[in-house]
Amino acid sequence: MRLTPAKLGCLLACVFLSLTWFTANNGNDEVDSLHHPEMLHLYERLLAAENRGDLVSRELSGILVKLRKLSKLPHTSSNITEGMLERSHSLLSHRLPNAYIYLPHLREHPGSLIPNVALGLGRTGVSLVFGIPTVKRQKQSYLVSTLNSLLYDLSPSERNDTVIIIFVAETDAEYVNSVAELIKKNFPKDVLSGLLEVVSPSQYFYPNFSRLRETFGDSKERVKWRTKQNLDYSFLMLYAQDKGMYYVQLEDDIVAKPGYSQAMKTYVRSLTSDDWMFLEFSQLGFIGKMFRARDLPMIAEFFLMFHKDKPIDWLLDHILWVKACNPEKDAKDCNNQKDLLKLRYKPSLFQHVGLHSSLPGKLQQLKDKDFGKLPQFTGHVNPPAVVSTSLTHYQQHTLDRAYMGEDFFWGLTPVAKDYILFSFSKPCAVTGYLFRSGNIETNGDQFYNTTVEVLLSDSSVRDRLVGGQSPQFNSSSDDFIVIGSFLDGVAEGKIDPQMQPISALRLVVHSNSDVWVLLSEIFIKLS
Ligand SMILES: *[C@@H]1O[C@H](CO)[C@@H](O)[C@H](O)[C@H]1NC(C)=O
Ligand SMILES: *[C@@H]1O[C@H](CO)[C@@H](O)[C@H](O)[C@H]1NC(C)=O
Ligand SMILES: *[C@@H]1O[C@H](CO)[C@@H](O)[C@H](O)[C@H]1NC(C)=O
Ligand SMILES: *[C@@H]1O[C@H](CO)[C@@H](O)[C@H](O)[C@H]1NC(C)=O
Ligand SMILES: *[C@@H]1O[C@H](CO)[C@@H](O)[C@H](O)[C@H]1NC(C)=O
Repeated sequence: MRLTPAKLGCLLACVFLSLTWFTANNGNDEVDSLHHPEMLHLYERLLAAENRGDLVSRELSGILVKLRKLSKLPHTSSNITEGMLERSHSLLSHRLPNAYIYLPHLREHPGSLIPNVALGLGRTGVSLVFGIPTVKRQKQSYLVSTLNSLLYDLSPSERNDTVIIIFVAETDAEYVNSVAELIKKNFPKDVLSGLLEVVSPSQYFYPNFSRLRETFGDSKERVKWRTKQNLDYSFLMLYAQDKGMYYVQLEDDIVAKPGYSQAMKTYVRSLTSDDWMFLEFSQLGFIGKMFRARDLPMIAEFFLMFHKDKPIDWLLDHILWVKACNPEKDAKDCNNQKDLLKLRYKPSLFQHVGLHSSLPGKLQQLKDKDFGKLPQFTGHVNPPAVVSTSLTHYQQHTLDRAYMGEDFFWGLTPVAKDYILFSFSKPCAVTGYLFRSGNIETNGDQFYNTTVEVLLSDSSVRDRLVGGQSPQFNSSSDDFIVIGSFLDGVAEGKIDPQMQPISALRLVVHSNSDVWVLLSEIFIKLS
């Protein structure tokens, strides 16, 4: 088969709108109806591009994205936007034969390669572009925590020099919008600045997956999953290719090390040879692989060509094989040659969190051993207690171990009324408390809208404190007294001497959270 990478460059973003069609159809009535100011502006940009004779791909893809948005507004002259879109789509089908060879179903819907941009300002020209594919999961979503981790310590200038694309690999518009809403709610500034984008494929992008051949002992479900993954990554790469210098593949259930962005840039600059094809900032699957944006069309074409045949990590390895290996030499030589094309950065900058793979029923226990250890919790000696919680802990990060000062507690997404309860073995005089949620790697997994409450051993004292004309404290729905709450992830305070001794202390969550919760410090101070 003949590889024509140059053509693939045009597959998605680089739409060669041969502007002749526009001139030919540029009747006066159309110009008259260019009422919408932005429409007029786009029209002028198109004409300018034509006059320069330089059909810059970025300019055109920008125009297309805006056209799509405009075409959805009620006050826009839909004739013109529709006409422009339709013609660019039909141009796509003539100019980009390769995509239609690998994805013949697209012939019926030529517009299906243009992404639906649910959120985004079309930012380009940055150093680092991150691609995060995400799908509907039956179990827990970790997307917001992943973004918190990525954004945690990005400086303003790094924020300016980055685009993070969340690719919702679903065609259910309602679901795509719900993800966009979630992102807008949690990261309003980063959406407004253009740092975060949410995109999804058109409803006709995916082929009928029920006709796939089962290979390599993979079940029907798994073949479908890996095939869709190939298409998703290709689509995302093609969308990302003209946004910046380097593209980094991530997943929606990872934790990033603080300083990762600077570390990556410094590493790339330090390389003396330009022979590499990708850099590995994590050793897991496809996480933390950095490509040059200009190589993406070639890589995506390779994935598309064999999307039905093999899983994506094998395909990536095959690209190296094709490029580097001499079939007349042995496997050892081949590995040595391949190693020149992929360079490992240590320690790893990204760690995998996801327990539940996006393939239903598949448990993912993979961990990157090179991620290293940062101080992830602070242990304390706490009074003897029976601890319990309505939250489900993740892996070995149980509440018991956290209370003993041996680990942090990590729980799946809290909902209203979830609690953590410390019942002291015998009532004790507790002078103060400190609860710290989130940690250096997982800073976003905090307690939000969560109170600290105590149960006094003497209930008559309680009645006095919360009752009467001017209650000193608020009571909870039961016998507890509210004494504090989490602010910026931390709850800290003293406990009034009149309340002593205390029988139990608990944390109560009052609203549903978007993120998991991690408790990295538990300190119950005795007098
Ligand atoms: C839009 O197209 C229809 C049918 O082709 C035509 O009748 C109508 O005048 C057009 N409207 C504008 C604003 O150009
Ligand atoms: C970010 O980019 C904008 C627009 O290019 C510029 O005005 C601003 O100064 C930049 N901020 C930083 C911190 O680099
Ligand atoms: C997909 O293909 C299967 C088997 O050929 C067929 O039964 C099914 O109707 C197709 N689905 C769609 C949505 O075309
Ligand atoms: C009691 O609750 C009210 C309303 O929620 C709050 O404004 C007030 O600060 C609380 N008082 C104490 C002592 O916690
Ligand atoms: C906290 O939860 C309560 C009860 O659900 C709710 O009324 C309140 O608005 C929430 N506060 C915040 C800041 O989310």
